[in-house]
Formats: sequence, structure tokens, C-alpha cells
Amino acid sequence: MGRKIRLTQEALPSRRASAPRKNALEQYIATRYTTSAMTSSPHGARNPDLSVTFAEIDLKNPVIAASGTFGYGIEFEDIVHLDRLGGFVVKGLSKEPMAGNPPPRLYETAAGMLNAIGLQNIGARAFIDEKLPKLRALKNIVVLANVFGYTREDYEATIQILNEGEGIAAYELNVSCPNTEHGGLQFGVDPRSLDEVVRTVKRASRRPLIVKLSPNVTSIAQMAHVAQEAGADAISLVNTFVAMAIDAETRKPRISNVTAGLSGPAIKPIALRMVYDAAKAVKIPVIGMGGISTAVDIIEFMLAGATAVEIGTASYWDPCATEKIVDELRQWCVEHKVERLASLTGALAIA
Ligand SMILES: Cc1cc2nc3c(=O)[nH]c(=O)nc-3n(C[C@H](O)[C@H](O)[C@H](O)COP(=O)(O)O)c2cc1C
Repeated sequence: MGRKIRLTQEALPSRRASAPRKNALEQYIATRYTTSAMTSSPHGARNPDLSVTFAEIDLKNPVIAASGTFGYGIEFEDIVHLDRLGGFVVKGLSKEPMAGNPPPRLYETAAGMLNAIGLQNIGARAFIDEKLPKLRALKNIVVLANVFGYTREDYEATIQILNEGEGIAAYELNVSCPNTEHGGLQFGVDPRSLDEVVRTVKRASRRPLIVKLSPNVTSIAQMAHVAQEAGADAISLVNTFVAMAIDAETRKPRISNVTAGLSGPAIKPIALRMVYDAAKAVKIPVIGMGGISTAVDIIEFMLAGATAVEIGTASYWDPCATEKIVDELRQWCVEHKVERLASLTGALAIA
């Protein structure tokens, strides 16, 4: 397998630098990749079952690459064995192609990253015509399509285009977008808008529907419940937290859009709490994400109630992170004598 990096996503300045200096987040992640985890244990299940199932989709393991951090999947073909992942979610797709925001649109923060890419994408039609045929040629992969829009009709039209394409396992609905019909408030922060958009998409969809919740709400449990009642087959959370950074010298915002989405290890404890709250509020499966960079992080999300997980920002620092974490996860199960990983979902021990 070639090692040529062909990321379509923007590299952070620190990744481009030739000097071996590690930035704060790289150091954090490096210390958390336990090399001891790669040694074999004399005890426990030698061949643990990592498979998970949600919305009637069988995954060989719970590790899914998150939308917006893994291109359309195909760009990672030379870097990651795509068939070793549970699956991957492609960049958010809209009815028409979108150019996204002007730079700067990425900024590194303490143990995290700000982004305001602006949902740049090639559009649903081009995805079907140009990317899906290449993905279909690959064996044993699970492709999830992330979808967004600015009106209910946008979402519906995008889903109708994607319904025509073969080789998509499910849709993941990004509801962290301004609803231009209702004063620009995000679909995902208003229970009524969320209900309406999920019902609309569910009617149009010929595939399982995962609703990806926004964390920028007062009650994640309420939004999770609204999504379930409106017909979601599963929920995923969290999307990024609205945040910002300022350059004190220039007095300018670090991101051209002024505000941006915060992701990476900095958000993990909050994301974990939200997954826990959401999982208690619904009966449908929960896919957890937010700052995952190690196998132990995955175990924590599963104990909190997640059936599967997504990994986003970690792929920016190490494009092979998703695949490495699958290996680490298997080894963790061997060392902890866990024969069936799925048995950990919701198994948090509370006295
Ligand atoms: C650069 C970038 C682009 C993203 N684009 C999308 C997107 O198109 N659709 C979406 O639902 N989430 C998008 N996200 C959010 C991630 O999928 C994920 O929910 C979030 O980053 C939290 O996970 P992490 O901390 O592992 O990155 C994006 C995140 C980043 C960092």
C-alpha cells in the first residue's frame, strides 16, 4: 500500500512544516497511542468479536471515519485499508456543489481544532457520477452519505438524488445548518424544525436514516427524543461546538467566518456526557463521537451507550488513525478478556 498522502482536506500548517516539532495536539495523541497495546497477551479472547449492528447495518467493527475529515473515502484508499474500518461517512453533500468559506478556515487550539470549511462539496449528483463508481469497485466497505441543506426541500431533493445511487448503506443527516425558512436558526437546535426535517427526509429516503445531532443545545436528551419520534433509525452525536479564536495582536478573528466549529480531544468529555444523556433518552442506537483518538476513548463512548463511534479530527494529525485504532481496539479486548465488544454498549457501572 502506497504512503502517498492525497488528502483533499486542508492540512493544518503544522502538518505541512518539515521540521519534526510536534504541536500540542500531536503530542497529546502520540502519548495516548500505547505501543504496549500492540504486544500480545497470554490471556483472554484471542480473537474478539468486534462486530456491531445498528439500523440493520452490520459493521465488522465500530470504527467509522467521520464526515468532513475523510474526503469521499476514495482519497484515503492509498493511506488506509478502507476494508478494515467499520465504515466511513463521506463529506456532507448538498443538492448543488458548494465552494465553502474563504480561508483561513482551520485553526489549531489547545487539544482541538476550529473549522469553518462552510460545507464545501461537489454536490450529490457529482458524488453519484464520479465517486460512487470508484467506491463500488472496492470490496467489503461500508459507505455512509452525510447530507445537509438550508430548507427541507433541499434535504429532500438531495436524498432523492442519492436514492438513485447504489452502494450507500445509510444516510447521516447533518442538522447543524441554518434553516433559511425559519429565520436562520439551525434545524438541530429547534425541536420543531428538527421534527419537520427528519419526517420529510424519512418519507423521501429509501435507506436507513441516522440523524446527526448538534451539541449546541440546552437539552440533548430532548433533541435525541425528537429525532427518534420523527423516524430516525439511529442518532449520531456530536457535531462540532460553536466556538471562536482571536489574534490579540491583530485584533482579528482567527477564522474568516469569525465563529467556527470546535472538535478534537478538547471536546471529548462534553461529547461523552452528551452521548450518555442521549442514549438514556432513546431506544434507537447511538453513534458517539467527539475527540476520539484511542481505543480506550471508544470503550468509554460504548460504556456511555454508543453502539458505534466516529473518528474525525484524529485523521488530521495522523491520516492512518482510524485503522490504527481498530488494531488497538482488538488488542484492548484481548487484554481485557472481552470476547464480544458489543456487550460493552451501555455497560457503565454506576453504584
Ligand atoms: C474539517 C471538518 C469538517 C467537517 N465537516 C462535516 C460535515 O461535512 N458534515 C458533518 O456532519 N460533520 C462535519 N464535521 C464534524 C465531524 O464529522 C465530527 O462530528 C466532529 O469533528 C467531532 O468529532 P472529532 O472530534 O472526532 O473530530 C467536520 C469536522 C471537521 C473537523
